[in-house]
Amino acid sequence: MQCRIILTLFILASINGIAQVQKPSVIPEPVSLEQKEGQFLLKHTTAIEIPSGDDGSVAAVARYLAGFLSRSTGFHLSTTHTSADGSIKFVLNASRDEAIGDEGYELQVSSGGVTISANKPAGLFYAVQTFVQLLPKEIESKKVNENIQWIAPAVVIKDYPRFGWRGLMFDVSRHFFTKEEVKAFIDDMARYKFNLLHLHLTDDQGWRIEIKSLPKLTSVGAWNVKKTGTFNYFSDPLPDEPRDYGGFYTQDDIREIVQYAKEHFVNILPEVDVPGHSLAAIASYPELSCTPGADKYTVNSGEKFMVWPPKGHFYGLVDNTLCPANPKVYEFLDKVFTEVAALFPFEYIHMGGDETARNFWEKSPQIKALMQREKLKNLDEVQSYFVKKVEQIVESKGKKLIGWDEILQGGLAPNAAVMSWRGVDGGIAAAKLQHEVVMSPTTFAYLDFMQGDAAIEPPVYATLRLSKAYQFDPVPEGVDAKYIKGGQANLWTEQVYNTRHLQYMLWPRAFAIAESVWSPKEKKNWENFVPRVEQQFRRFDVAEKKYAPAMYDPVIKATKGPNGLPVAELSTEISGLDIFYSFDNSFPDKFYPKYTEPVEVPKDAVTMRIITYRNGEPVGRMISIAVAELKKRAGIK
Ligand code: ACM
Repeated sequence: MQCRIILTLFILASINGIAQVQKPSVIPEPVSLEQKEGQFLLKHTTAIEIPSGDDGSVAAVARYLAGFLSRSTGFHLSTTHTSADGSIKFVLNASRDEAIGDEGYELQVSSGGVTISANKPAGLFYAVQTFVQLLPKEIESKKVNENIQWIAPAVVIKDYPRFGWRGLMFDVSRHFFTKEEVKAFIDDMARYKFNLLHLHLTDDQGWRIEIKSLPKLTSVGAWNVKKTGTFNYFSDPLPDEPRDYGGFYTQDDIREIVQYAKEHFVNILPEVDVPGHSLAAIASYPELSCTPGADKYTVNSGEKFMVWPPKGHFYGLVDNTLCPANPKVYEFLDKVFTEVAALFPFEYIHMGGDETARNFWEKSPQIKALMQREKLKNLDEVQSYFVKKVEQIVESKGKKLIGWDEILQGGLAPNAAVMSWRGVDGGIAAAKLQHEVVMSPTTFAYLDFMQGDAAIEPPVYATLRLSKAYQFDPVPEGVDAKYIKGGQANLWTEQVYNTRHLQYMLWPRAFAIAESVWSPKEKKNWENFVPRVEQQFRRFDVAEKKYAPAMYDPVIKATKGPNGLPVAELSTEISGLDIFYSFDNSFPDKFYPKYTEPVEVPKDAVTMRIITYRNGEPVGRMISIAVAELKKRAGIK
């Protein structure tokens, strides 16, 4: 009898055990994922099996996996050529599986072991990223945890990317980030199957790459005055303030970063942003400007130097452009691109080309002479003349040119690829001209924008919510898909001073972008994405990585009510949240009025406070919004 009870308890416990195996939750969503009966238990004795004829490339992925797992498990998994039950087996397909291409994989997890197969090591690497997400969240810890059963649910996954260009742009110019910080960025992007790091290496605030033939670019151009507050509103630097804020990568640093990226199956696209955004270069070599007095220019420290009228053209208060009429500029660029091309193996070099203020060109006799000589009708054509010259230089170094979509203005250079950022129209136009395109529109992919309401987010001039980022489709209506190489998100860092905030700005929106560039379009599903994001949040908590919780905060709109008072209209980005609010300056909780319909703001109220709950627990942040702001949103004077 006792035996039978114990047996029953044992059976119940094991059924319970099966029930507790976590449901696979992977970002980006794989092409196909089937959960099977059973589970795999990772042990300190688990071996990693690699093919006997391996040239070292599979062993490198095995080492990556073992290294990753050792941090939290404390296991030092051995690599072997011998088959054994319970091992993690890497297989390079003897005959190519066309369906999965160079980056796809098959991953089979069962109680008897794990088998990963792919055509190329890149596929094995991405299978590893998926496998790691099947393990308990504690796998993300940097400290050994001996109390965890390292169980992964049994699955069969077949997976491959939608696009070959899955990029993130990291602006290391506006604020400098160290070599180690760039490597950490690569670690994180590779975890979500991004394969392209676009490094924005030069801008008005700093030149970040050593060019040996032009030493002032980094002795002068890499440094500005440290300021704290809101970028673009800083006081003008004083002559005696130290210019010691910034930094640059030596060529050895770049080689190390490139190698590190390669080990993570990430290509690096270097960007040297010209002819605009070039104040750091001009402060270093003022002869590159057409404007008298450029020798007084300094690297920008975040003080206002450009004007962006709500309507009409932006213009510069100083001339931050390289002079297209100056032959020295092309000699300069030849030197720069010679060294850049030698450092970065990737086939493209990005020339920027965006936001060139031309108000100084309008007044320049040199530009006038150039226009007459070259029969250029307007400043668009002057800009295009410059872009075409840059293309020739870049191609002479054995590279292809890519630039922001302004390079279309005045006529696109013959072979240039276009990165479409001012919406998707530039990309559509370039594809019509049969040029290659990378989509990276502000509308879906600008990660420097606020993630939620301006009432709580660090201020930036626009908002891009997670749900909008999730709608990113690099192949919009009306474009021929064969010209679209893929998509990327851009993280500009004017307002990003440190890696904690960098993480906050990246995540979770980079999950949305990852899924937009990897997963099949038909598998994208917001309702199914949100819980997977939440699973990643729990992993980030363990890893002590920061992310924005903005998806739990309400969307706040206001209209003008019948009494002339603002009417607050609240909604939530994700389902299942309750919203509570106050107008009496106190902090609302779930015992306060619950929002059910648009609510008129009481006549004398000064502040509305709002918080969201889920299942009786607070999940959103306490948001305080001035009634004056609600009036502004409602258009009430
Ligand atoms: C850009 O955002 N100026 C490319």
